[in-house]
Amino acid sequence: MDPVANPFSPGAGSRPPELAGREDVVGAAEIALKRVIIGKSAQSQIFLGLRGTGKTVLLNEVLEIAEREGYIAAFIEAPENKSLTEMIYPAMRQVLRKLSGLEKAKYMATKGLKALRGFASAFKISLGDIEIGVEPDPGVADSGNLEVDLGEMFEAIGRAAKAADKGWVLLIDEVQYLETNELAAVIVAVHRMSQRNLPVMVFAGGLPQIAKLSGDAKSYAERLFVYPKIGALDEIAARDAILKPLAAENVQIESQAIERINEKTGGYPFFLQEWGHHAWNVADGSPIETDDIDLATKRALARLDEGFFRVRFDKLTNAEVEYVEAMASLGKGPYKVNDVAKVLQKQPKSLGPRRASIITKGMIYSPSYGEIDFTVPLFDDFLRRNKLW
Ligand SMILES: Nc1ncnc2c1ncn2[C@@H]1O[C@H](COP(=O)(O)OP(=O)(O)OP(=O)(O)O)[C@@H](O)[C@H]1O
Ligand SMILES: [Mg+2]
Repeated sequence: MDPVANPFSPGAGSRPPELAGREDVVGAAEIALKRVIIGKSAQSQIFLGLRGTGKTVLLNEVLEIAEREGYIAAFIEAPENKSLTEMIYPAMRQVLRKLSGLEKAKYMATKGLKALRGFASAFKISLGDIEIGVEPDPGVADSGNLEVDLGEMFEAIGRAAKAADKGWVLLIDEVQYLETNELAAVIVAVHRMSQRNLPVMVFAGGLPQIAKLSGDAKSYAERLFVYPKIGALDEIAARDAILKPLAAENVQIESQAIERINEKTGGYPFFLQEWGHHAWNVADGSPIETDDIDLATKRALARLDEGFFRVRFDKLTNAEVEYVEAMASLGKGPYKVNDVAKVLQKQPKSLGPRRASIITKGMIYSPSYGEIDFTVPLFDDFLRRNKLW
């Protein structure tokens, strides 16, 4: 069928034609946003899930709802090799500048911009275009202690937003890349917002393995945040993800063909888009048949192997490749750390650093004590398909 009309959208963060099976998550986010902006309490949220499950898409959805509800929103992606302060600075500057344009918030926002000058110099952030006429406010947000200073910045922003009957929502993607102290600072800042009853919320998304917190940050994190699990879609939602976009184009699909797609994709959103995309392109017309899916599967796997899987594989060193291949040789995960060590004929302890480094790269995570699994769904199949060992 005409590729130009293809409704499916495989790709990182691309909005799906049908956001299937996420009504509860989106609904809960909407309620929380609506409550906080009218001065009621609600928990901030961290969406946790494997690669390609739709976390970024959900954060974008939250962003839209937030803007509709009167928030100013900022979207940042936690960088693998950069500091949080560098990423968050422009986001804070943007919200304060917007607020300073609103009569009711002008005074508080200008105070916030002064505090931001202090913050920038405390964390050695190079100011692209220096705020003209804004002098720093010594003693505010400039101690160099991130927990304290970020809290003071959030407070300044929250007060300015409140003065204008607005809110601020900060969206942080790839939150697993934050350093422990950075995540702790965000959490402590959110705590401060809830204590002061200020309209600031954080929504984040990341891999299940996020930094281990301790002390105050840990106890706040448990109370102030919820962690919706973003997983594969159930059968009904997975069916919707394919059927609805097709129906909108007046295209039918055989029910066996849908079943085949479900079976091949495991209901993972990214794979559903990929299979839907190829199924559309290979089919002659409506209805899409089961044979079409067989050809689509070949194409989808070829493309995933060259792209989605390959780019991740290429981040690994040879020793790390050896480790993940040992995992895949055991079949489906999760895998016992000890079993992987046996395959490699090494002591589990001696493999600790290697494992840790693969975890830091976001390729594997520990679903429970003594166990590991891939963060990329079907990565084990990829390794076995391209068996190099
Ligand atoms: N609920 C859904 N229904 C159908 N397709 C979806 C859904 N959510 C996401 N998708 C599709 O899945 C793909 C991956 O989405 P997204 O990039 O948001 O995942 P992610 O969890 O952020 O992945 P990563 O961890 O790699 O960043 C996109 O092509 C998107 O269109
Ligand atoms: Mg993402």
